[in-house]
Amino acid sequence: MGGIAPLAFGRRTFVLGAAAASLVASAPRALAAPVRDPFTLGVASGDPTPDGMVLWTRLAPDPLAADGLGGMPGRTVPVGWEIAEDEAFARVVQRGVADAVPDSAHTVHVEATGLAPGREYFYRFRAAGALSPAGRTRTAPAPGTLGALTTCVASCADYPVGWFTAYRRLAEDEPGLVLHLGDYQYEYATPEGSVRPVAGPETTALSGYRQRHAQYKTDPDLQAAHAVAPWLVVWDDHEVVDNWAGRATEPGFPERRIAAFRAYYEHMPLRRTSVPRGIDMQLYRRIGWGALATFHLMDTRQYRSDQACGDGMRVGCTARLDPSRSLPGVAQEAWLRAGLRSSGARWDVLGQQVFFAERARASDGAYAMDGWDGYAPSRDRVLAGFADVRNAVVLTGDVHTHWANELVRGDRVVGTELVSSSITSGADGDAAGDHPDLRRNPHLRFRSNRRGYVRARYAADGVTADFRVVDAVTTPGAPVRTAASFVIPDRDPGLHPA
Ligand SMILES: [Fe+2]
Repeated sequence: MGGIAPLAFGRRTFVLGAAAASLVASAPRALAAPVRDPFTLGVASGDPTPDGMVLWTRLAPDPLAADGLGGMPGRTVPVGWEIAEDEAFARVVQRGVADAVPDSAHTVHVEATGLAPGREYFYRFRAAGALSPAGRTRTAPAPGTLGALTTCVASCADYPVGWFTAYRRLAEDEPGLVLHLGDYQYEYATPEGSVRPVAGPETTALSGYRQRHAQYKTDPDLQAAHAVAPWLVVWDDHEVVDNWAGRATEPGFPERRIAAFRAYYEHMPLRRTSVPRGIDMQLYRRIGWGALATFHLMDTRQYRSDQACGDGMRVGCTARLDPSRSLPGVAQEAWLRAGLRSSGARWDVLGQQVFFAERARASDGAYAMDGWDGYAPSRDRVLAGFADVRNAVVLTGDVHTHWANELVRGDRVVGTELVSSSITSGADGDAAGDHPDLRRNPHLRFRSNRRGYVRARYAADGVTADFRVVDAVTTPGAPVRTAASFVIPDRDPGLHPA
C-alpha cells in the first residue's frame, strides 16, 4: 500500500486497546461501578472521498442481547470521535460528537469532511468513559492523481461454518482499500456440524438481524479487517435471505426485507444516501480514486427482472436471451453505462456479486439462472460499454470459489473478471484446481476451491491479482498463501502470468 503505513498496525492497536482499558479502569466512576465496555463491535470506515470518509461504530455492551439492542438503555448517548494524522493521536485534526440513538441501535455514522486528499488517518471514539479501539483509514487521492493502490476483495463469510482467518490474513496484507461484495452475514440458524454457534434462530425480524450483525462484528478477525482500511460494501442475497429476488409477493416478505435493509445500513460504514426508504435502499454508487480507478459498486439483487426460469441451472431457458430483461435493472444499467462513458480513469472496476463470464456447465450445457448467464443480453450491453473505458475489471463474489476469467465479446477479449472465493462458506474446500467447466469454457482460466480473498494492486501499467487462500477454516490460525497470480497489462485485457 502507499502512504506511511505502519508495519505492525495490529499489534499497536492492541497496545491502544490496553491503554483504553487502563484509562477506563482508572476513571473514578469505575471504582464505584464497573463500566461495561460499549465498544465490543470494533470500528469501521468506508466510502472515501478526496476530503473524507464515513466512520462507524456501535455501542453494545451486551452484543448478543436477544432484543437486538446490544444491552443499551433506551436513551440517546453522545459519542465523541476524533481523527488524527498519527497512530498515537498526537496530531488530532478533527473532533466532534455524534448522537447514538436507540432508534438506530446506537450505531454511529460520522461523515467526515475537510481532510487532505490521498493520505492516511486514524480514528477512534469515546463514550460512557470508554475509548474504542483505533482504526486506520484514508482519503481518496485528489482528482487527476494516478499513483497505485492495493485492494483486497472479500465475500461470503458464514460465521458458524468456520473461523474468519482469511479476514485476519487480509488485514495482515495491509491493503489501502477493502471491497466486500456481499454475503457479509448469513441468515440461517446454527447448522449441524458448525464450528461455532450463532445466537438466535434464522433472522427474520429487526431484532434478529441486529443481533446477528452484532455477533459477526464481535469476531476479532473481522474487526481487524475493518480497522486496517476503509471498506466499500455492497450486499449479495444472504444479508436478507437466500436468493430472495423472486419472493417479493410472499406474505411477510416485505417486512423481512425492510428489517434486513435497516440492520444492514445500521451496521455498515455507509453514507446517509443509503438510508432505506420504504422497501428500497440506494446502494449502487461510484467511488473515484484519482485518475487511477473508478469503482462502480453494483447492487445485482434489488432490481433484477423476473427470474423467468427460476434461480437454478437450466437447459434451454429462452428467457435468458430476452433483451427486455436486465440483471441490474434498467435504471442501474443506464447509470453504469453513463458512468463508464464519463469515468476517464485508468481502471474501471465493477464491484458486483454474481458470476459475470459465460459459463456453460460441462455436465449438460446448462446455465445458472441466478447470475449474468440468466440475463445474457443485459451482460452484452455492459460488455459493449467496456468500449468506452481504457481498462475494465469485473469483481465478483457469491460462488465460494476463486476464478480468473477473460471476458469475451464477439472474438475479442474486452475485460477481465476476478472472482473472489469465500471467507468461510463451503468450509475447508479441497485442493483440486481442475474443473470440467474450465475445459468447456477456455476463457475461464483458473479456479480454486479454497477459502480466501483476492489481493489486487492497481498501478498505471497494470493490475497484479493474487488469489490468496487458506487451507483450513474449520480450525483456527491457518497461514495464507498465493494460489495463483495474474497480470492484467494496461490496454491489454485478459490474464497474463505474473
Ligand atoms: Fe455466499
